[in-house]
Amino acid sequence: MARTNGGRKLKIALSTGGGDAPGLNAVIRAAAKTAWCLGWEVWGIQEGFEGLIDPRRKLVRIDPVDIRGILTQGGTILGTANRGNPFKYVMETARGRREVDLSGRVVRNFKRLKFDALIAIGGEGTLGLSLQLSKMGIPIIGVPKTIDNDLMGTDITFGFDTAVSIATDAIDRLHSTAQSHRRCMVVELMGRYAGWIALNAGVSGGADVILLPEIPFDIESVCDKVRDRDRRKKLFSIVVASEGAKPKGGTRVLKEGATANHVERLGGIAEWLGREIQERTGKETRSLVLGHLQRGGVPTTFDRLLATRMGAAAIRFVQQGKFGHMVALRTPRIVAVPLSQAIKRLKTVPPDHDTIMSARAMGISFGDGHC
Ligand code: F6P
Repeated sequence: MARTNGGRKLKIALSTGGGDAPGLNAVIRAAAKTAWCLGWEVWGIQEGFEGLIDPRRKLVRIDPVDIRGILTQGGTILGTANRGNPFKYVMETARGRREVDLSGRVVRNFKRLKFDALIAIGGEGTLGLSLQLSKMGIPIIGVPKTIDNDLMGTDITFGFDTAVSIATDAIDRLHSTAQSHRRCMVVELMGRYAGWIALNAGVSGGADVILLPEIPFDIESVCDKVRDRDRRKKLFSIVVASEGAKPKGGTRVLKEGATANHVERLGGIAEWLGREIQERTGKETRSLVLGHLQRGGVPTTFDRLLATRMGAAAIRFVQQGKFGHMVALRTPRIVAVPLSQAIKRLKTVPPDHDTIMSARAMGISFGDGHC
């Protein structure tokens, strides 16, 4: 195994890109500690790939003092960004905003700084960019991160378990207020185009209706469930809606203004549902969006452990020269899968997933009229 590169200590760079997720700091800590045990040097590329576009301002050496106490901290000590795609870098010029390709600069800076490997921790966007940069000669190992759990190639991503726990706790809390006021409560959860968070939190939290992007719903079927519960003297209802859920034949509810990377911003389905349910059933209904609370705070034990295993494995894969690969959980093992496999397509919830079938069998509605 290569501990050094031609007698030189290896110099490793770490970056975190895309939306933050609980467990990012645990990956950084595990990778850094493992690298130091091998006598390597560790650097942090700040704000996604920005640090390789502008290393003078956004590149920092990571020393033991920097990672002290971060295992339990949410977020990322390196900062992260949804912008900063080096292939379509948005620059302000005298003639307005322009997209320029700075990928060549990223590769040149990486080589000039004499890095031996880049560990890119991110979701679909970051891993896609990592694949492109690895084809241009940067030795990259990816680490999958997203609360949405929508990445192929790995059983699960860190951050997901924490998000589901937070969402389940929120649904638990909604029960008592819904029950006291005999209301219908609609809660909107994150997940983008995949309904994993809504499905797992909805079932764990005992929701009556769960709406997923993968199963277009019929608003009358949702209302029927609420009416039926009232008829059976269960005078409150909990509706969990994934932000990407949409009515049959309709479209997703979007927020105005895409991100700098032209990514759609989802949001607003709970408010729409709340209005429709109240108007159609006459039942007093309130809606809320749990939002970024799902991404914040202390990672669960599961996420801490998974992130730690993935961070340490990333260094192992550097030693083994498995560049262009991503660290993945194939229970019970951590393995290396090609980056191309991870970003082939989104991992959405199969409509015949066991959890959906069990939920239907228990009478939970998915708003499609089926039991
Ligand atoms: O991908 C993670 C995620 O939290 C999605 O669930 C959500 O739609 C999106 O990011 C929100 O991102 P932003 O940080 O742009 O608000």
